[in-house]
Amino acid sequence: MKTQVLRTSHDVRSRSIRRAGRLLRMGELVAFPTETVYGLGANAFDPVAVRRIFEVKGRPRDNPLIVHLHSVAQIHNLVESLPLLFWVLAARFMPGPLTVVLRKSSGLPKSVTSGLNTIAVRIPDHPVARALLMEVNVPLVAPSANLSGKPSPTRAEHVLEDFDGRIAAVLDSGRSRIGLESTVLDLTKTTPVLLRPGAVGQEEIEEAIGIAINVRKHRANRPSSPGMKYKHYAPEAEVVLFEGTPARIARAMKSMARSLKGQRRVGVLGQSKLARNFQGAEFISLGDSNPAVAAHRLFDAFRSMDRKGVEVILCEGFAEGKMGTALMNRLRKAATRRIRV
Ligand code: TXA
Ligand code: MG
Repeated sequence: MKTQVLRTSHDVRSRSIRRAGRLLRMGELVAFPTETVYGLGANAFDPVAVRRIFEVKGRPRDNPLIVHLHSVAQIHNLVESLPLLFWVLAARFMPGPLTVVLRKSSGLPKSVTSGLNTIAVRIPDHPVARALLMEVNVPLVAPSANLSGKPSPTRAEHVLEDFDGRIAAVLDSGRSRIGLESTVLDLTKTTPVLLRPGAVGQEEIEEAIGIAINVRKHRANRPSSPGMKYKHYAPEAEVVLFEGTPARIARAMKSMARSLKGQRRVGVLGQSKLARNFQGAEFISLGDSNPAVAAHRLFDAFRSMDRKGVEVILCEGFAEGKMGTALMNRLRKAATRRIRV
């Protein structure tokens, strides 16, 4: 199979969208851009296409998929009922980078939700994603369009790195604006539970709904969101994460780089002012302390390091808070070692 690269412009009613829609209706897999990361799309009502998503990604069957919609109107067929909190959140954050978990109704293939009685839904805020969802007018399942365990794709080139020749097409719309996957919030409990931090932050959610929510901490042997028990977002290279003050991080990184010299190929990821400490080394800037900029660049940087043959990535940690929290969540998951200085 040859993977078609369908370029999209701001003309969202383009031939590319129509062609992608046709392929999806035929049961093919088509990757498409969203504001978070690229998704690997399939018709949620086509059990064969859904099964192929798991196969192509190498995704464990017990890790359910997010169902993507163009509007709230499409939700009614998928869920039993909608809690009041859903409407409050929808008014504030949808379309956008917020996925909510609800009690599902029957109808969708069981594989979509891995047999759970809940379903995750999201309305993406990206003109191409929305145009595609309107064009096909069926819900699309769309996990991040990467091989299971690899960093999520933030450019069409990343999708091709993992799936060229294995999926029908990718809609190319340049870099993803946010760069990290959506916030996942479970609304099936009395108190909502934040399962995955993302661009919609805990405080914003609490402010919108007027109550405190629970945050599920990552624990190695007790997954909350099924996807949390698997290694995620990690490049091939080993990631060593440094947390502390910038000056101490620079010192600790330099000393580790020195001790690895001649043994392992080292790359450094961090704020641009760190660069002067690592002249001549593989250095990729994550910007200047703004975690949203770092989030936007992170997965592309991981993949670049792998392409350069880097074996150990020394990565600078960022301060927590809104995007900082989401960013640190991904960095801690990718890290094989964490060093506090
Ligand atoms: O930003 C995103 O959410 C991207 C774009 C393409 O929309 N998609 C994405 O999908 O990140 P994926 O499959 O890579 O991650 C979905 C996460 C997994 O951690 C999965 O376990 C969780 O959502 N999830 C899905 N259904 C769930 C459910 N019923 N209950 C709890 N967690 C669920
Ligand atoms: Mg994923």
